[in-house]
Amino acid sequence: MAARVLVIGSGGREHTLAWKLAQSPQVKQVLVAPGNAGTACAGKISNAAVSVNDHSALAQFCKDEKIELVVVGPEAPLAAGIVGDLTSAGVRCFGPTAQAAQLESSKKFAKEFMDRHEIPTAQWRAFTNPEDACSFITSANFPALVVKASGLAAGKGVIVAKSQAEACRAVQEIMQEKSFGAAGETVVVEEFLEGEEVSCLCFTDGKTVAEMPPAQDHKRLLDGDEGPNTGGMGAYCPAPQVSKDLLVKIKNTILQRAVDGMQQEGAPYTGILYAGIMLTKDGPKVLEFNCRFGDPECQVGHPPTS
Ligand code: AMP
Ligand code: GLY
Repeated sequence: MAARVLVIGSGGREHTLAWKLAQSPQVKQVLVAPGNAGTACAGKISNAAVSVNDHSALAQFCKDEKIELVVVGPEAPLAAGIVGDLTSAGVRCFGPTAQAAQLESSKKFAKEFMDRHEIPTAQWRAFTNPEDACSFITSANFPALVVKASGLAAGKGVIVAKSQAEACRAVQEIMQEKSFGAAGETVVVEEFLEGEEVSCLCFTDGKTVAEMPPAQDHKRLLDGDEGPNTGGMGAYCPAPQVSKDLLVKIKNTILQRAVDGMQQEGAPYTGILYAGIMLTKDGPKVLEFNCRFGDPECQVGHPPTS
């Protein structure tokens, strides 16, 4: 029997997920909440007027509408515990629990986790006090530093600072002017990594990792690689910088290690795990984990060619 599926979110990523799900003969209808103009009325796809923040009302909606699977697009509902709440209410939901989604929702958690499991990443320190952060920056011996709000900031809470003064100013902006609200109560200061950046995503059931072809998104806001970093202005896939051998290395030393580590720590990770990776001269290192498909990466993914 063909299923009714609900996609949560409103971006290009969610349009892509709905579009692809609708192609399956196993899927009868795809609802998107809240959706966008592209998902409003397109064959099997339509938008649903239901709030995604009230999880018990959403669970009731899923039961009333006979939804057999919920697929969550963005990080905010995942960090807010949508998967645990819907699952406990008996609604099948694709994505990590809030505990597992900490790999994205707390950069401090992710860095500590990577150190515990020997997953390669930039050297770092976390601070809850701006003076301590600034005195560390002043004593640090890095040519450039990256200052990050630890919490969720829609991909904008990261400042690459080219001088110590710029890094201290970033700390002030995040911690004292609170430009990213509560997300900036803790800052992570880390070593600047040089190289090409790639997005390596996988599907996982908490044990097995099925990697997707690597993608690359264009981060800077303006043409000619100018302007501030964004969550991605466009993307392409597969990214030729990642050879087959390198993808095997990334799978073994990053993606599988992270999934095994979460399992060992009692917070099994299921859904999509996205590693933002810098290809440095010392090998691939993790810049960040995301607990979901990338946007725009989701829009360009395609099945492996071999
Ligand atoms: P994040 O949200 O941690 O991935 O950071 C957003 C973007 O900032 C990344 O996609 C990179 O382009 C850049 N970035 C973050 N951390 C570093 C780092 N340690 N070195 C160089 N660039 C970084
Ligand atoms: N394209 C980066 C992200 O989805 O976080």
